Amino acid sequence: MVETEGPDVCACERCPALVESRSRIVNGTGPADAGLLFVGEAPGADEDERGEPFVGRSGSVLDDALRDAGLARADVRITNCVRCRPPENRDPHVDELDNCAGFLGREVEAVDPDLIVTLGKVPGERLLDRSVAVTEEAGSVVDVRLGGTPRRVLLCLHPAATLYDRSQRGAFEDAIARAADLVGAGSGDQARLGDY
Ligand code: URA
Repeated sequence: MVETEGPDVCACERCPALVESRSRIVNGTGPADAGLLFVGEAPGADEDERGEPFVGRSGSVLDDALRDAGLARADVRITNCVRCRPPENRDPHVDELDNCAGFLGREVEAVDPDLIVTLGKVPGERLLDRSVAVTEEAGSVVDVRLGGTPRRVLLCLHPAATLYDRSQRGAFEDAIARAADLVGAGSGDQARLGDY
């Protein structure tokens, strides 16, 4: 197994099923010092093909919400809990999440974002280390310790949830707008992290 010391994975064969199902490893993209770090679950078919997180239909929903919040994709860092596409887009298994956790941890440390936004239940539960009722908790900000460092996490729905249920779109957009507002990066004037 060959890996880099940093958050990027060059070659990894820890998860046999994912080695089988992936075309490539999908690392995080965006500025290495971004104030906002979005964390999804795992690459899907489009991401596996293009080698970039959130570039399919879910990515379009995310891009639109970012734009409406006054942000561009190029301003934020986007990554996933697991970097290889699971077969038939199933949820990553716990051992696969565990195998990839070190890479996400190193990425969080390296980027050192002002705010982490979890996209969906899997990254929310992973980072908070508890069960998350994502529909009810979307938009809430939680303080956690990751790798011994205090981090602020905003829970958000997965963009795909808004494709299955259009009525969730408002809650998704509100959470993204809140994230932009909290780091002073969107249409709001001031970072308001201290208020929470
Ligand atoms: N869903 C995710 O969780 N991550 C992606 O990169 C794409 C879809």
